[in-house]
Amino acid sequence: MNIDLNESALLESVAGKSAAARTLLRQIASDFSPAVFANSLGAEDMVLTDLMLADKVAIEIFSLDTGRLPLETYDLIAEVKQHYGLALTLYYPRHELVETYTRVNGINAFYESVELRKGCCHARKVEPLQRALAGKKAWITGMRAQQSATREGLPIRTFDASNGIEKFNPLADWSEKEVWAYIKLHKVPYNALHDSFYPSIGCAPCTRAITPGEDVRSGRWWWEAPDSKECGLHVKKA
Ligand code: ADX
Ligand code: SF4
Repeated sequence: MNIDLNESALLESVAGKSAAARTLLRQIASDFSPAVFANSLGAEDMVLTDLMLADKVAIEIFSLDTGRLPLETYDLIAEVKQHYGLALTLYYPRHELVETYTRVNGINAFYESVELRKGCCHARKVEPLQRALAGKKAWITGMRAQQSATREGLPIRTFDASNGIEKFNPLADWSEKEVWAYIKLHKVPYNALHDSFYPSIGCAPCTRAITPGEDVRSGRWWWEAPDSKECGLHVKKA
């Protein structure tokens, strides 16, 4: 994304929102210990990683390695270790769930129906997430309200009833431009796929490049209708 770092209004909003996010992160660390941050290695999550490490907040940072991530995401995990000295905690799917799923449904069954796609996301993401959140008081994500129709009105803080803990989205009100301005200003490492028209990155077989102007999440599960495009990590309950 083209960012003009001489744009004073942009710099001001990024500085204000960064300060607010840092305050919130320090508060979460002190009031909701143990808290964890789910890091997908996407642009937003790299901003959050940088903000957390600036204050060395006591919040564990983990990633869900689904086994089907793009090569570039694995490269970034290694770069994060080199750049920040941070070894992300990696959670893996339970092998028997993946083995049963692929034996019964096939290796790429997620393309066949929403139900089979959700089944794969459950085994590779949701079940590992439940283990990552067990015994924690809060979790943090890098979601933004402007990312998609399913995230409109996203609050900064909410109670996650499906996991029974507080959930924080410190970047809920950030724009994509603010995210990229932060990355450029602070020289934050980021996923190389972002430079090839991949604004949102998940598993390799379920993510593709978009055309400029398209919705930022339109390259995720592109064969499905927009309202079904959540993997189950972020379930909305009435
Ligand atoms: S999602 O549908 O895959 O969840 P997205 O890629 O926009 O959507 O991620 C939203 C948030 O979910 C991320 O900011 C992160 O907090 C969490 N998340 C998604 N994928 C992962 C992952 N593989 N590991 C850890 N957290 C993840
Ligand atoms: Fe499976 Fe695709 Fe979900 Fe990854 S995003 S867990 S490959 S269905």
